Amino acid sequence: MPSPEAGFVITIDGPAASGKSSTAREVARALGIRRADSGAIYRAVTAARLRRGDPPTSWTEQSVLDAAAAVSLVPVTDSFEVRIDGVGIDAELRGPAVTAMVSRVAGMQSVRARVDSLMRTCARDVAIVVDGRDMGTAVFPGAALKIWLVADVEVRARRRSLEMRGVEPDDEEVARAASALLARDEADARQTKPATDAILVDTSRLTPSEQVDRIVALANERISSL
Ligand code: C5P
Repeated sequence: MPSPEAGFVITIDGPAASGKSSTAREVARALGIRRADSGAIYRAVTAARLRRGDPPTSWTEQSVLDAAAAVSLVPVTDSFEVRIDGVGIDAELRGPAVTAMVSRVAGMQSVRARVDSLMRTCARDVAIVVDGRDMGTAVFPGAALKIWLVADVEVRARRRSLEMRGVEPDDEEVARAASALLARDEADARQTKPATDAILVDTSRLTPSEQVDRIVALANERISSL
């Protein structure tokens, strides 16, 4: 199967810990195209604003937007590296300070417009897999394939704990992670909606390779019908 051409977009949206990031990465790899993670850009904008040091209670939308100017995306082999002031910042993006503030930042409409524009720029000259919450609705409404990824909250909690701690979580830890995820679902509800033409993939009872294979098969159907 040949790789798709520039302009071909696959969107993978869904709630936190539904498996978007790893699925998007593997689907892009299988198709030989790049992947761009919109959540990482919201996180980078949040990290850039946190670096100014004043307490989040004093953040205005304009001050967050100003901080967003330091965030850039640089194409690398199979993705786009997110940078602040030209420097890659992966570990900082996943830290608790960023996670605690990112939903508030993502609720700012001017910040959303800036992130949308960065995402569209990534897709300008290449075929791409993009993941986030609103890629198939607000950002790429004309995408060739739209996936809405879901999983039971307990499954999401178990996966998230395992990913963060590297050990199988006990029931108490799963319950704690589940309540954090439900709080984040609530905070992100406004921008987390499936496109009407999205295909729902429930990963609760799929292995990672099954979910990737299913989406790659759907993508190949679309590519061969172009
Ligand atoms: O996907 P990830 O958990 O890294 O996303 C971090 C945050 O960025 C989400 O909790 C959400 O607030 C925001 N986000 C968004 N729209 C997107 C992607 C992420 O609002 N398309």
